[in-house]
Amino acid sequence: MDLIERIRSGQACAGVVGLGYVGLPLAVEMAVGGLKVIGFDVQVDKVDAINAGHSYIMDVPDETLAPLVSEGRLQATTDFSMVAELDTVNICVPTPLRKTKEPNLSFVIDAVKSIAAHMKPGQLMILESTTYPGTTEELVLPMLREAGFEPGRDVFVAFSPERTDPGNKDYTTRNIPKVVGGHDPVATEAAAALYGRCIDQVVLVSTPRVAEMVKLLENTFRSVNIALVNEIGLMCDRFGIDVWEVIDAAATKPFGFMPFYPGPGLGGHCIPVDPHYLTWKARAEGFSARFIELAAEINAEKPAFVVSRAADLLNEQEKSVRGAAILCLGVAYKANTNDVRESPALDVMTLLLRKGANISFCDPYVDKVVLEGEPMSSVPLEDSVLRAADLVILLTNHSVFDLGLVSDSGCIVLDTRNGMKEFPTSTVVKI
Ligand SMILES: NC(=O)c1ccc[n+]([C@@H]2O[C@H](COP(=O)([O-])OP(=O)(O)OC[C@H]3O[C@@H](n4cnc5c(N)ncnc54)[C@H](O)[C@@H]3O)[C@@H](O)[C@H]2O)c1
Repeated sequence: MDLIERIRSGQACAGVVGLGYVGLPLAVEMAVGGLKVIGFDVQVDKVDAINAGHSYIMDVPDETLAPLVSEGRLQATTDFSMVAELDTVNICVPTPLRKTKEPNLSFVIDAVKSIAAHMKPGQLMILESTTYPGTTEELVLPMLREAGFEPGRDVFVAFSPERTDPGNKDYTTRNIPKVVGGHDPVATEAAAALYGRCIDQVVLVSTPRVAEMVKLLENTFRSVNIALVNEIGLMCDRFGIDVWEVIDAAATKPFGFMPFYPGPGLGGHCIPVDPHYLTWKARAEGFSARFIELAAEINAEKPAFVVSRAADLLNEQEKSVRGAAILCLGVAYKANTNDVRESPALDVMTLLLRKGANISFCDPYVDKVVLEGEPMSSVPLEDSVLRAADLVILLTNHSVFDLGLVSDSGCIVLDTRNGMKEFPTSTVVKI
């Protein structure tokens, strides 16, 4: 039975390499879709947790994971020799930036090497990690050729961008349409068959390069629009206009306007990172992506603006940043997740620490952070904690925060998320 038949009949064994925010939900969805799934990771604690039926990803409840594991439909391993048992393998490893803001593809390279060492003819490899257009064809295919496999003949290769939105209850792995671009028609058909088992809608594009570019367009679109609204927010602050009121009213236009909201800066593994993959590739082709780079610059300036407004508020109380007790509400990069990667809250807190403030933070989803090399633990959101603060900065508006309690405490609040909109007292300042 050939690859596509095995996938369609549900007899295929699917592999997922990299069991993080993207890989674990995908592995679970494939197992729910009726395939036998083997997950691979280099972190033993993650592998052990999965095999014990415990999820470390908020969007994957133990009640979903545990039965799949106990029924033998999903297992995890660090042993790449099990790649030989697979029909398909999806790569979901990180694609961060180097300090120089250049793409760091070392995780993708390591993953492809580990897989290629145990691949067998007839398998399908799909790269899902976000990367610059050309990665699949210019990096992955040559590595497979070097390992002795001719793509399109011996093995099949596709790119399919991951669009997951952690914490989003309406759109999950299953109902977010999946864009697929294969290196050849068999790869495209096999990838479409694979996703067709576990994802509601599959969108085919002509090449892996197009699929790679789709993802970067989507995330650059967000970065640029967030930068625009951040700039409008800075302008409104100068004008004494409430930018949130402006956006809400503009959003009543039924066409041609899509609301984006200002914040303390860009966060997460994607939006602050991905546009740099695109501009790096553009530069390599002699193209300067000025607009996109400007957006990244504007967004990167937001944490310093928050700090300067915090200093203003302390100044009005005849206090200095140095020595002030500042409580930061939320450190995750966005509401209702525990992900602190690239979180602007960490930037704000670090800048305040460097100015000598006494920082504490409260985040029900993040127990600990390390700032300037020092570990710091989350404090509970209690009246006594609030009253002890000279200033409270709302940085991430988790829906479990009791903002009524914050309001009742009468403390001075700098609100970067419009979270206090139900409590518009004189001690709340929105930016
Ligand atoms: N998190 C998101 O919301 C999101 C959304 C869309 C796209 N993406 C993209 O998806 C990719 C994965 O992101 P993530 O958030 O899941 O990352 P993550 O850090 O949560 O997970 C990646 C996992 O890969 C593992 N890993 C690293 N190198 C490995 C190797 N050589 N072999 C096996 N496992 C390895 C890590 O141990 C980790 O568990 C990135 O390219 C990211 O840009 C992420």
